[in-house]
Amino acid sequence: MDISAFFSSNGILAKAVKGYQPRQAQVEMATAIDTAIRENRHFIAEAGTGTGKTFAYLVPALLSGKKAIVSTGTKNLQDQLFNKDIPLLRKVFKTPFTAALLKGRSNYLCLLRLKNAMTTTFGFSKDDAMALAKINTWASRTQTGDISEIAGVEENNPIWYQATSTVGNCLGQECADYAQCFLVKARKKAQEADLIVVNHHLLCADWAIRDNGFGELLPSVGAVIIDEAHQLPETAANFLGINLSGRQFNELAQDSLVEFYQDATDIPELRATAENLEHAVRNLRLAFGIELKRGDWQELVKNKAVMDALHSLQTNLQQLTEQLKIASVKSKNLDVCFKRAEELSEQLQAIVTEQDSKWIRWYELHRQSFTLNRTPLTITNEFQQFMLLHKASWIFTSATLSVANSFEHFSSQLGLTDIPGASWSSPFDYANQSLFYHPKGLPHPNDPHFIPLILEFVVPVLEASQGRAFFFIH
Ligand SMILES: Nc1ncnc2c1ncn2[C@@H]1O[C@H](COP(=O)(O)OP(=O)(O)OP(=O)(O)O)[C@@H](O)[C@H]1O
Ligand code: SF4
Ligand SMILES: [Mg+2]
Repeated sequence: MDISAFFSSNGILAKAVKGYQPRQAQVEMATAIDTAIRENRHFIAEAGTGTGKTFAYLVPALLSGKKAIVSTGTKNLQDQLFNKDIPLLRKVFKTPFTAALLKGRSNYLCLLRLKNAMTTTFGFSKDDAMALAKINTWASRTQTGDISEIAGVEENNPIWYQATSTVGNCLGQECADYAQCFLVKARKKAQEADLIVVNHHLLCADWAIRDNGFGELLPSVGAVIIDEAHQLPETAANFLGINLSGRQFNELAQDSLVEFYQDATDIPELRATAENLEHAVRNLRLAFGIELKRGDWQELVKNKAVMDALHSLQTNLQQLTEQLKIASVKSKNLDVCFKRAEELSEQLQAIVTEQDSKWIRWYELHRQSFTLNRTPLTITNEFQQFMLLHKASWIFTSATLSVANSFEHFSSQLGLTDIPGASWSSPFDYANQSLFYHPKGLPHPNDPHFIPLILEFVVPVLEASQGRAFFFIH
């Protein structure tokens, strides 16, 4: 079967997609990607928003018969691809294919940690206890363990930390729940699938060897398709650097407290140092001030209050690490906490003392937390090696990759040399067929009045456009 059988006006997609119309840009893009994948070459494809890039790469990837990885910019896009576009293609493809969705480990329920949280004597708040009870009920019926499935406990609820794992605290094959583990099952499924849908974070985690178990997937693929490729350089640079958040220190302190109550109540210093670490995190956040921003490390060096709070965080982390070392002989979990504390200490030290100009040091402030970062100035060598390691056809696509009609800027960020590319403009006349509306004077999205107030603006727009409107809330 060839590309035109899919994309023509009476082709396969026309029968399956409501309102289908052949689009020149889409067919040309699909043809170019088809050739690249078949000839095992790399390719950069830029096409305007709404061109239909998803089908333009999925169809050739599936037709090639090669095992492929598609990486999207976000988890939401991953879900959309997996739940909408792939099932549609599955219905119309003559040859059956298997597809798997694989997210990062923090998206899967960890049965062991949930069990520990349900039996601990550590005092959770009433809300936390209710959320944990909901998670526990869902745990007995979920097939995937994907935390986005459950209604009523938001994905960003901090309680998920108690019911998901990290590389640092997962017991791996020594885990009593290994055979039922959702993460292990998802990874196994992905290894066997013809098409694997991941996101850039996961792809980069695999590359930066921050997590095990995913590495075996890549060598056997014939095509790696990077959608929303403009986001890859930043994600990749972050993965090759160090990013420490206030939350990570708090999570360590919390886990240490849970384990203190569980197995180490004879070491009161453990509890004291864990609580001190939480205070130090809070003090550092306060010292940063209320303005939410990103900034260069040099600004911090001049700020005595922040520097003092940062050194106090370092000292407190060291003290907790020492106590965890003493307690580590008591249980596997305490030993895991100790190793994490040691690693966090080393990373914090690396950020604070770094002098080499090949790294950029910076910070970012959130309402309740902060991140401290050390990012490489360039990732080109590492990325080239990553591509060489996986001898697949790499396809980079997005609506925005070129600057002044050239892919030079994008290519140089990733160290891509001599990779052909093509650009297609959007089939839509956005300038004449769309309107941009920015209502003024709205409160912050966290304000309790935000929803009723924004609805006053949204409803008339929806009525006037008959539902054909996008809303961005930032
Ligand atoms: N030829 C077509 N005719 C009509 N609808 C199509 C066609 N191709 C794709 N679509 C639909 O158009 C919508 C947009 O497609 P898609 O998400 O692939 O766009 P995109 O090029 O990736 O845009 P963006 O840059 O915003 O991600 C989808 O709902 C898809 O099902
Ligand atoms: S193997 Fe790791 S992720 Fe899976 S249940 Fe055990 S601790 Fe949790
Ligand atoms: Mg898209």
